[in-house]
Amino acid sequence: MGIFDTHAHYLKRDFPEDLEQVLNELPEKNVERVIAVGCNLEASREEIELAQRFSWIYASAGIHPEDAGNLPENWEEQLEEMLKMPKVAALGEIGLDYHYDDAPAKDVQRRVFIKQLETAKRLDMPVIIHSRDACAETMEILREYKPKGVMHCFSYSAETAIEVVKLGMYIGFTGVLTFKNAKKAVQACEVIPTDRLLLETDCPYMAPEPHRGERSDSSMIKYTAAKMAEIKGVSPEEMIEIANKNGRRLFFGE
Ligand code: NI
Repeated sequence: MGIFDTHAHYLKRDFPEDLEQVLNELPEKNVERVIAVGCNLEASREEIELAQRFSWIYASAGIHPEDAGNLPENWEEQLEEMLKMPKVAALGEIGLDYHYDDAPAKDVQRRVFIKQLETAKRLDMPVIIHSRDACAETMEILREYKPKGVMHCFSYSAETAIEVVKLGMYIGFTGVLTFKNAKKAVQACEVIPTDRLLLETDCPYMAPEPHRGERSDSSMIKYTAAKMAEIKGVSPEEMIEIANKNGRRLFFGE
């Protein structure tokens, strides 16, 4: 079983010269499946187009908290239309991000997040949650809505990880897990049951060691998988297989 990258961004903006080539080379680099994650209406459309052209790519559609301001009046209709398209496997990424001062106001982020959680529930779709510097409020909302889904690029404590798992959700780790200062992520990964872990790149960002700082792509997951395998006491091949099965269970009901 090959790599399932459950969270990647493949936009022309970030791969202006070689997007086709990068995607075409993934299968020969042991990448079996990718979810190309949307973060606003335009990007979601772009990712869905890729899913239509490459058999190993699936897509998600959603409004990222940083894109929650200035939405067109009919954004919910536009989003729902995309969610019903073939090969759209999830609603995301959605959530709260209080990291930047110029991010949309907290109440705007909350409203857009909650509306999308309601849509996911109605359409019975998994969600991809992005949460940064907003742990308490995110958890409060998740406790109330109990979506099925994943908290991606997990950056919170082991205690929070345990609660996320208790809510029935999965947790994804990027290349951050391999960074030298990733003590918190490692501690969280330690306490998460192996059958709830997902591998992801969040490419083009978050390249794992020894490629930290470079543009990443789904094939670099092997480094993150090796680190996760070490933490969980399994072989890298087993870790890739377990995470692949976890992703299939969550996103495709397999
Ligand atoms: Ni992302």
